[in-house]
Amino acid sequence: MVCLGNICRSPIAHGLLETKAQSKGVHLKVDSCGTGGWHAGELPDGRSVEVMNRKGYDITNQRSRKIRISDFEDFDLILCMDRSNYKDVSTLAPIGSSAKIEMILNGTYSDEVADVPDPYYGGPDGFDHVYNMLDKATDGVLETIISN
Ligand code: 4NP
Repeated sequence: MVCLGNICRSPIAHGLLETKAQSKGVHLKVDSCGTGGWHAGELPDGRSVEVMNRKGYDITNQRSRKIRISDFEDFDLILCMDRSNYKDVSTLAPIGSSAKIEMILNGTYSDEVADVPDPYYGGPDGFDHVYNMLDKATDGVLETIISN
């Protein structure tokens, strides 16, 4: 799961997919990172922690990190939160890398909406909106993984 800072959106996506996979007994290695490293080592944003807590998920074990080249070997699927992340991740991908790079909303909202909006500079409503999008999207991602 990749966003810009790895403190708002991708930690939510990471926590949702990891917990949903565990509860279905699906063995998945899930991680998240940012294309930028400004928040490396930090906990997720308090507003992401709060919305996830309210919905029954604890993401306080997560720490922000920047994407690394080894991620393209270590993971089969790299899901980007928005088109800007997608572009940055695609640029970093080593030639011949077999990791699939996709937009996380692609299978869920298809033509309606491409990007999970960056809630960093907005109010708490933005985090609820992001949670709702990612809750739906991670259900779809898990279903696709199980059926493939
Ligand atoms: P995220 O949100 O990409 O969803 O983690 C942001 C977090 C921090 C910044 C931008 C977006 N920042 O500019 O520090």
